[in-house]
Amino acid sequence: MAIETRTIAAYNQASFGDRQGDVAKGQRIVMQACAQCHGTQGNAVSSTFPNLSAQLSSYLVAQLMLFKTGERRSPIMQPVAQNLSASDMLDAAAYYSSQAPGKPYASNNAELLAPGEKLHREGDSQRGIPACIHCHGVTGSAIAPIFPRIGGQSPDYLEFVLGVLKTKRFVIHEAYVMKAILTNLTLEDIKAVSTYTSTLTAAKPENGRRP
Ligand code: HEC
Ligand code: HEC
Repeated sequence: MAIETRTIAAYNQASFGDRQGDVAKGQRIVMQACAQCHGTQGNAVSSTFPNLSAQLSSYLVAQLMLFKTGERRSPIMQPVAQNLSASDMLDAAAYYSSQAPGKPYASNNAELLAPGEKLHREGDSQRGIPACIHCHGVTGSAIAPIFPRIGGQSPDYLEFVLGVLKTKRFVIHEAYVMKAILTNLTLEDIKAVSTYTSTLTAAKPENGRRP
């Protein structure tokens, strides 16, 4: 099946041009339309919703447009995104990306933390799994604006979204990397690495601007 793919930078350029978001306008949108799930400062009200605080704005706007066009499917987020203009997306992303990271999650489940840490830091070359830190950084803070920040994300959401990524149809070029990685991860691996990653104190990315 031929699928048109673009890099996240090209996708954002086509969707948003060189425009940047406005934090104050974004705050108003967030209070009206997002805070009931993602929190006023991006720390989600339930672990089934992703935290958006300190997430890179490049990642946030790309995902919002993917929801709006239906390229990323979600019965909850698609109707939300359909009501947003491109400027609204830039503004909401500017606001959430400027918020301080939330508190990481705690776990004392060594049976999950130990193999999760190993996958995160070293991967598993025999099974064709690269270390997550190559792209997501040691603390789970993205190393470049084409990657999402994953440290301190809710363990339930991490497990859920890795399951989605394992099966979804990709339009963002770099996401093929995740798809390739995930074909080699078992559900036990996903649970372990999600538990570990949720405990990381991901520093706020240095460069929150769109690529
Ligand atoms: C009713 C709850 C709800 C509301 C309201 C809501 N969201 Fe979401 N949001 C979700 C859920 C659930 C997901 C995970 C969707 C999935 O992948 O299936 C999500 C995912 C996202 C993602 C992708 C995050 C990631 O890490 O991949 C972004 C960005 C986002 N929401 C932004 C927003 C913005 C901006 C608003 C307000 C304009 C908003 N959301 C309103 C529940 C909500
Ligand atoms: C070569 C780079 C690369 C490596 C290595 C990598 N990732 Fe990713 N990851 C990405 C990219 C790019 C995306 C964005 C995919 C998209 O949604 O389009 C992503 C997305 C994710 C997301 C979704 C984040 C969100 O908020 O929706 C999670 C979780 C994740 N990766 C975890 C991992 C784990 C765990 C590993 C190690 C087993 C890993 N990644 C290894 C590049 C990488």
